[in-house]
Amino acid sequence: MAVKLPAILLSSICLLVLLNASHVESARTSGSFHWYNGLFVFGDSFADTGNFPKADLSEVTRQWYKPYGCSHGFLRDPTGRFSNGFVQSDFIAKILGRTKAPETYRDTKENDGDKFGVNFAVGGAGVFEVPRKAPTLAKQISSFKKMLDGGDIGKWQLKESVALVAISGNDYARVANMSSEREILDFIGNVTDEIAGGVERLQKLGVTKVLVNTLHPLACTPWQARPSNYTKCMGRGNMAALLHNDDLEKKLNATSRDSVYLLDLNWAFTNIIDPSDPHDIPQVSKQFKSKLKPCCESFDPNGYCGQVDEDGGALYSVCSNPEKHFFWDDVHPTQAGWEAVMEQLEKDIKDFLHVTY
Ligand SMILES: *[C@@H]1O[C@H](CO)[C@@H](O)[C@H](O)[C@H]1NC(C)=O
Ligand SMILES: *[C@@H]1O[C@H](CO)[C@@H](O)[C@H](O)[C@H]1NC(C)=O
Ligand SMILES: *[C@@H]1O[C@H](CO)[C@@H](O)[C@H](O)[C@H]1NC(C)=O
Ligand SMILES: *[C@@H]1O[C@H](CO)[C@@H](O)[C@H](O)[C@H]1NC(C)=O
Repeated sequence: MAVKLPAILLSSICLLVLLNASHVESARTSGSFHWYNGLFVFGDSFADTGNFPKADLSEVTRQWYKPYGCSHGFLRDPTGRFSNGFVQSDFIAKILGRTKAPETYRDTKENDGDKFGVNFAVGGAGVFEVPRKAPTLAKQISSFKKMLDGGDIGKWQLKESVALVAISGNDYARVANMSSEREILDFIGNVTDEIAGGVERLQKLGVTKVLVNTLHPLACTPWQARPSNYTKCMGRGNMAALLHNDDLEKKLNATSRDSVYLLDLNWAFTNIIDPSDPHDIPQVSKQFKSKLKPCCESFDPNGYCGQVDEDGGALYSVCSNPEKHFFWDDVHPTQAGWEAVMEQLEKDIKDFLHVTY
């Protein structure tokens, strides 16, 4: 055999077969059809759809200013998402068969609309207090509990509910100030303790299914790769992410397996931006011309995408083809990037949630 089909192609063929098979199956046994009444999202900018309040332009509010959101449907306006379009939580909603992401916690205070889910995630958040004052995971879960206790979220919704816990490394900014490896390992243990504790708390509150992100390869973000002119992943971030992920898996393994699913962002990101075999690049990676160089790049390495001078002049450049860039800004994927990441995880998420549509 001379022709070798890429593994990813093979698996998508299998996926088609499986999807067809499960379609037939569900037509016969409607018991396997699942509708989730509640989608509750916790975490940081990977999942935030507009919780951080809009204020004057700064690094922490840049998601409310151009060019953020510039590929977002007809409006092409910033939506408070850290991307040119959709982010991870939007794609999770889609996998659940919804037309849109759950409303933001901020909006629930203003209107009494649909509570088929709430997004509590805030850009910049971690499990510990961060300088940006974004509420920690524990505080976000407390807000959820308050809504439950107050009847703003019905207990009935939790019987068929999904939570996403998206903690993407904001806590690790602190590692820069740590000198010993021991201290870093200790800190990783503390972070994963907090995540596992949060997951347990969500389960105790009655959430039936919890998806938990692994930490993506931190050394491959444009922020880290910039000194190499975006030619390679730099620093110790990937090692730290692996230690974090292994620790997290152990701790989540210790609790019930069938209600918690570790969403392997690390694997899905790595396949695209740092494939192990340069001679066998996965199909999902090939659509991206720029894997480490962001679409929106500040002129100053310490600046940010969206930054302007006193006269409103842009202090950044924006690419003309965001769909060919995996990264949007110095730390966040483009909408196309998220789509490619979630496409790789979709089948496993559906299997875990018994979602058949
Ligand atoms: C590191 O320490 C310095 C001096 O104490 C402090 O100003 C800075 O905020 C710290 N950085 C982080 C990321 O915690
Ligand atoms: C980890 O948590 C323990 C217990 O709360 C604390 O004593 C220790 O200082 C923490 N380690 C780091 C590096 O933050
Ligand atoms: C960085 O990469 C770009 C595009 O490949 C190239 O044009 C530029 O000369 C490089 N800069 C440096 C400093 O190597
Ligand atoms: C977690 O459990 C799975 C399934 O039992 C196992 O394959 C995996 O090695 C475990 N991971 C860790 C880090 O213990």
